[in-house]
Amino acid sequence: MSRMTRRVLFEGACASAVGHLYGRHRTSCDPSLETEEGPFFPVEDIPPTNDLTRVAEKESIALGDVIYVAGAVVDFDCVPVPGAAVAIWQADRNGRYRHPDAEGQDLLDPSFSYFGRTLTDEEGRYVFKTILPKPYIFEGLHRARHIHFEIVRQGFDRRVSEMYFPGHDDNRRRRGDDVWRSRDPARRAVLISSRMSEPQRDAFRITERGAPAFCMNFQLSSDLALQTQPG
Ligand SMILES: [Fe+2]
Repeated sequence: MSRMTRRVLFEGACASAVGHLYGRHRTSCDPSLETEEGPFFPVEDIPPTNDLTRVAEKESIALGDVIYVAGAVVDFDCVPVPGAAVAIWQADRNGRYRHPDAEGQDLLDPSFSYFGRTLTDEEGRYVFKTILPKPYIFEGLHRARHIHFEIVRQGFDRRVSEMYFPGHDDNRRRRGDDVWRSRDPARRAVLISSRMSEPQRDAFRITERGAPAFCMNFQLSSDLALQTQPG
């Protein structure tokens, strides 16, 4: 399959994400915004699972509202990148992280996998099933609902980023998210996911009715790739 064909397929799958909340349109090929790991990057091995609502060898299911987060990883030319390792980590329904430096480690949900990782498929797509994280306050900073991402693929720079949810009042009420507000106003809209349409859900084979699905794409960069691009 040609690079152009694959690019067209990708753009039909999960494109036209629009940052309604902040009044800025963005396309699927806007460069991703690099963010920080933050204080709660997992110190444990991240399990190879894209379903955070379950924990191995447990029958019970995580507490909270089930959601799907899906999207594509593309290169500098907006062509999908297969085989990229996508990891996420996030707060639970009570705003708690699984991390020795986080408060409330004795109150964690034993049925929630607080992090997981998966590989992008041939079309550069990934899907996670998880729960809606709760906003939290850390060291005086108000954090809206968000999910952290790490994307690793040989030949590209490691990408650390995060996603917010569209239309959540906690993004704009009062102060909003203090960390988001501190970012470049011209770029920060790329951190906001979009609600998936039915055709987009179908494209990602998300069949669970009643569980909202959010689209979040990422673009990888590489110093080497930039040097070798023609023209
Ligand atoms: Fe966080």
